[in-house]
Amino acid sequence: MVPLKGTSKPALLSLSMAPITIRPYQPTDAASLTRLFRDSVRRIAAPDYTASQLRAWAPDLIDEQKFGHRCGSKATWVAEVEGRIAGFSDLEPDGHIDMLYVHPDFQRRGVARALLRHVEDRLEPLDLRRLYAEASITALPAFEAVGFRVVVPQTTTVRGETMTNYRIEKRLEAPADLSPSTL
Ligand SMILES: CC(C)(COP(=O)(O)OP(=O)(O)OC[C@H]1O[C@@H](n2cnc3c(N)ncnc32)[C@H](O)[C@@H]1OP(=O)(O)O)[C@@H](O)C(=O)NCCC(=O)NCCS
Repeated sequence: MVPLKGTSKPALLSLSMAPITIRPYQPTDAASLTRLFRDSVRRIAAPDYTASQLRAWAPDLIDEQKFGHRCGSKATWVAEVEGRIAGFSDLEPDGHIDMLYVHPDFQRRGVARALLRHVEDRLEPLDLRRLYAEASITALPAFEAVGFRVVVPQTTTVRGETMTNYRIEKRLEAPADLSPSTL
């Protein structure tokens, strides 16, 4: 796989598709990411959740300012394909990934894989060895594809709606010079 170092160079993940560029979130992205979040949940997660669960997860009215603050208050990255926002993800200081959403027009083109690899590349400077998240039923295969494992299936309640997701994690190997054999 091609490691996604840096933030501005295109990551050539596929020769047959446009390159995916990862860059940091900017406040001007708030409206686009709010729409992307709602559309992605409502359309892509629809086979896995009921209509009322989807509305609770991604309501009709989402405060863009609050959503922007949620993105801007931690490390958040935006994936672009041909100048369009294709997805976004984030990383909290303890290794928690709060959000991973890909635009309906860019499904199965490696956007989530590129974002998760970018997030993982940022762990070492933070001295972290573990990523964790709560994956939707829909997202579990994408997380598993890059090495996450289910810790436990769980139910969560969002705006009065109970839904299934999975506590997942990925443990990273220690750097070679810290492995037990060299201590
Ligand atoms: C889950 C999601 C983020 C995946 O994004 P994506 O960019 O389409 O995923 P990728 O193209 O990077 O997929 C990488 C791998 O994950 C697996 N995968 C992804 N989606 C899959 C699906 N629907 N079914 C089976 N495997 C899937 C595949 O192994 C895939 O590799 P392949 O295409 O070479 O077979 C996207 O579908 C989404 O936004 N879903 C709705 C919102 C959601 O549930 N977000 C997560 C909240 S926790």
